[in-house]
Order: sequence, then structure tokens, then C-alpha cells
Amino acid sequence: MRDEPLSDSVADADRKDRVAVNRGNATAELLAHPAEAKAHETPALISKPSTFAFGANWQRFLRHFTEDRVRNAEHSLLEFLGVDNLQGKSFLDIGCGSGIFSYAAYRLGAVRVVSFDADPLSAQCCSYLHDKAQRPANWEIHQNSVLNEDFISSLGKFDVVYAWGTLQHTSRMWDAIQHSANLVSKGGFFYIAIYNQVDGLLGSNFWRAFKRFFNSLPRAGQYLIELVAIPLYFLARRLHARSLIADVQSYESSRGMYWRTDITDWLGGLPYECATVEEVFKFVRTQCRGFELYNLKTTNSLANNWYLFKRTAD
Ligand SMILES: C[S@@+](CC[C@H](N)C(=O)[O-])C[C@H]1O[C@@H](n2cnc3c(N)ncnc32)[C@H](O)[C@@H]1O
Repeated sequence: MRDEPLSDSVADADRKDRVAVNRGNATAELLAHPAEAKAHETPALISKPSTFAFGANWQRFLRHFTEDRVRNAEHSLLEFLGVDNLQGKSFLDIGCGSGIFSYAAYRLGAVRVVSFDADPLSAQCCSYLHDKAQRPANWEIHQNSVLNEDFISSLGKFDVVYAWGTLQHTSRMWDAIQHSANLVSKGGFFYIAIYNQVDGLLGSNFWRAFKRFFNSLPRAGQYLIELVAIPLYFLARRLHARSLIADVQSYESSRGMYWRTDITDWLGGLPYECATVEEVFKFVRTQCRGFELYNLKTTNSLANNWYLFKRTAD
């Protein structure tokens, strides 16, 4: 199948006449009038200069949004969950980023999809995909934080709580894990990915310091670093791959992501926390109620370990 760009322009996402997705709160006004929305944000949600602009990066990703990417996202959801579809299931996408996994969950038949992200631009990206799906009423989008307990407790429980690559960027990863786990219904799944902790000279501590440096630079400086990082990234991958093309294809087909977006996300993604598999496993087993480990995908690198927990008891 060819990787064809979807026809609508991402610039459409900035339309001023956007219909509110989540009527009656700040998100609705954010999406309708982005420039005026700041007045309604909780202070904790306003991006600080020392944190990474995830939403702007997701906006760039949407320029490369294709049907193939959605299919890959769908496949990655289903494969790790070990199911054929999401029919009859409710799906919560925490830190939805571009919104591609919410879009995938909606297409896979989820009866209720709720997406939220702390970054207003990410919420806006997700709204763009909601438009693409013809604005279904059973999919709502919020700009809010997983650390906001009032907001979290207003959402209810879900059959699938998906927080892939999000909780490590919140500045309070363990609280974020606990808040998210609380939203899983009995019999439901908790699907998360958390950066692996790596010791040594070029390990997690080095990258935390590097990300701070990267975020202290103006965008032009960041761009220069990205230009240097791109060949290094491909050189590193090339050492493990048959060919560059095959490597990029297999990388992108794994979750529907775009390599260029992910390089920027990796270089800049701050706050940055990480944990060993043992730490996450032990935390969820002992600090979150009623979970059993159901599926696991681990790495020795600095990338994410994937976890699927099932809530077997309240
Ligand atoms: C690496 S992206 C992951 C996006 C998406 N889950 C995916 O799998 O493609 C991390 C996302 O988490 C969001 N985020 C960071 N802190 C958050 C918080 N406290 N609450 C909700 N989302 C948050 C960021 O804005 C960003 O869009």
C-alpha cells in the first residue's frame, strides 16, 4: 500500500471557526480562538521555557500524516493488547500528542474515546484528527494534565488507558503512573511505555543534562543540533540494519511515527524521567491496586519499555 498524504492541509487545524470539541470549558475556547485561550489555562499547564514544545513538534508530524501511518498505529495498538478490535471498549489517551492513537482507537470501534494533553498545540492536533473523523460525538478532547486530580477524577473509568511515552514527561512520573492507573476499570488494561534507565557515560543522566542544554537554546541552535544528530542517528541504526531504506520503513511501520519528529522529540523531550523494568513492575504491583502484568516489550537501550497491565481486582 502506498504511503499517500491525506488531502486536507494541516494548516486547516488553525481555522478560527473550529467547532468546539469539548463544549463548555477552556479547551473549547482554545480550539476556537487559540490566541485567547491562555486566560483560561491553569497556571501549571502553561508551558515553561525549560520544557520541550511537544505540541509544535506534533504539528510538524501531522504534515506527514498518512493512511499508512494510521494503519500502523492501529496495528501496534491491537498487537500489544492481543485483540482484533476495540469494539465496545472505552479508550483514554493520556498525553495524546498528535492524536493518531485516539484516531486509531476510534476507527477500531471504541465506543468512547477521551484524549487529553497538557500542551494546547497537542490538543489542537488531536482536534484536527477529530475533524478528519467527521467530529464524532463519542470522542472528546481536553487540554489538561494527568497531574490535575480534579480533572482526572471527572473522567470516569476506561477499558483501555493508553499513556505511551507520556508519563515520563510530566515531571512527577510516579504520581502520573498512579493517577493513570486509577482510571482503569476492573478487567481493563493499562498500556504504558516508559523510558528505560541506562547507567554509564552516555546513559540516562547524560541525556537529561543534554536535554536541558538543548531546551536552553533558541530554535535555530536546536535546529543545528538536529542537523548533526540526523546522520549520527542513521549511522547508529545502520550498524544494526540491512539497508537504510529498510531500516526507516521498519521503524515507521512499528507505530506509525515519523523518524524526523522522533529525533526532535528525543533530543528535546523534557522533563525527562526513566525507570528500570523492575521499578515500574514493582511500583504498579505494590502502589496501584489490583494489577497483573499481561504483556511486556523491553529494551536494553535508552528507548521505551512497553508494559501492559490488566486490572484483575478493584
Ligand atoms: C512523547 S509524547 C507521546 C504522545 C503519544 N502518547 C504517542 O504515543 O504518540 C508525550 C506527550 O505527553 C504530553 N504531556 C506532558 N506532560 C503531560 C501532562 N502532565 N499531562 C498530559 N500530557 C502531558 C506532552 O505534551 C506530549 O504531547
